[in-house]
Amino acid sequence: MTKQLKLGLGLTGVGTSHVAWRRPQANPKASVDIDHYIRQAQRAELAKFDLLFVADGLFINEKSLPHFLNRFEPLTILSALATVTQNIGLVATISTSYSEPYTIARQLASLDHISKGRAGWNVVTSPLEGSALNYGKVHPEHDDRYRIAEEYLEVVKGLWDSWEDDAFVADKEKGIFFDPEKLHMLNHQGEYFSVRGPLNISRSRQGHPVIFQAGTSTVGRNFASTHADCVFTNLVSIENAREYYRDLKELALSSGRDPESLSILPSIQPILGQTQEEANAKFDMIGDLLSPEDTLNYLGRFFDHFDFSQFPLDEPFPEIGAIGSNAFKGGQDRLKKEAKEKGLTLREVALQVTHPRHPFIGTPEKVADEIQKWFVTGAADGFIVGSSEEGAFDEFVDLVIPILQQRGLFRTEYEKDTFRGNLGLHVPQNRHSQVKTV
Ligand SMILES: Cc1cc2nc3c(=O)[nH]c(=O)nc-3n(C[C@H](O)[C@H](O)[C@H](O)COP(=O)(O)O)c2cc1C
Repeated sequence: MTKQLKLGLGLTGVGTSHVAWRRPQANPKASVDIDHYIRQAQRAELAKFDLLFVADGLFINEKSLPHFLNRFEPLTILSALATVTQNIGLVATISTSYSEPYTIARQLASLDHISKGRAGWNVVTSPLEGSALNYGKVHPEHDDRYRIAEEYLEVVKGLWDSWEDDAFVADKEKGIFFDPEKLHMLNHQGEYFSVRGPLNISRSRQGHPVIFQAGTSTVGRNFASTHADCVFTNLVSIENAREYYRDLKELALSSGRDPESLSILPSIQPILGQTQEEANAKFDMIGDLLSPEDTLNYLGRFFDHFDFSQFPLDEPFPEIGAIGSNAFKGGQDRLKKEAKEKGLTLREVALQVTHPRHPFIGTPEKVADEIQKWFVTGAADGFIVGSSEEGAFDEFVDLVIPILQQRGLFRTEYEKDTFRGNLGLHVPQNRHSQVKTV
């Protein structure tokens, strides 16, 4: 079989703009409406999507996106969705800067059991300084956050190997519940964590839930290429996406991995019309609702909620030095560089970040062509599909998926019954079983 696209649905309630909730067809309470999520999840599963992806954050203020102000915690919503779906992967965003590895190892193993092998974890380090205010901590520096994440992941994987696969023998006759030889302490003493183990749940179907990551800085890319099974990006131009793709695959190779074992999935928000003009008009309608203040708020979040309203909108993007550089470092560096190279004003940068005129706007054929182009020319292994507004995902499923299937680019049936299986990833062997078989 030829290589297939990997597709995820980025689950949101009221969309990822400040204004989608105002559109006539929108349900303004969708972000906390379980029925909305169930509908979306089952729709994605009927279309044979690989995964549901739930992004998350740990700090809000009055300038945050409406969806961020009032939304479900990822593991909670995915546990609910696990019980009304059978095949689709369930990827939860969880921060390594503001949680404990023992708790998270346990929660993800639980989700993997509940879903019968469909859990995934988007490992994030939390960009926003304000998160520290909610946890009584000091926000770690950008590169330190990645160092913490490295050790955190090592601990979690160690805990997932606490029990060998067949440790729970449950021999009623002999009264043996588990085989003590197959139980392993972790005894981790590191720079950031001290965890004895073992984990209080057996090894789950996938052994280790699938690891996602989204980092664009040098240290972020190194982390992703070493540890992630899938990487999520938000690059809008095919040239930038190809550069990122090539770099990550090369980094994976140089860290001793098969580059094919790392999937790179840009997020897209397709906007469809019967004609190009109709699709453009839909895109413009959302743009028309956005006020300059909305766009400055959206941009400001990438600079740790920096207030850009103090600068004139129609002058060159301001020099702000290192302000907010402890947040989304990689993304910020790219924005500043592009603004300088292209001589963009503040208004242009804010609009471009908030409402980029991306290539996935047009007729179903055109959007399918674009997806194919990114896929076959080394810009993507698949995509996380988001909804610009209510109904956009349904249109994508009804109109674009059949074209991709006809072209042999996307499955018509799930191949396996676990998330790893459908992604073509093997189940990591328990490190202790491995030692014994050597
Ligand atoms: C496409 C993309 C999606 C992200 N999604 C989240 C998210 O849902 N929650 C979160 O806390 N951080 C998220 N992040 C932030 C990253 O985890 C990371 O903290 C931030 O990008 C800084 O790292 P970098 O400089 O390596 O990019 C995302 C980053 C990118 C690029």
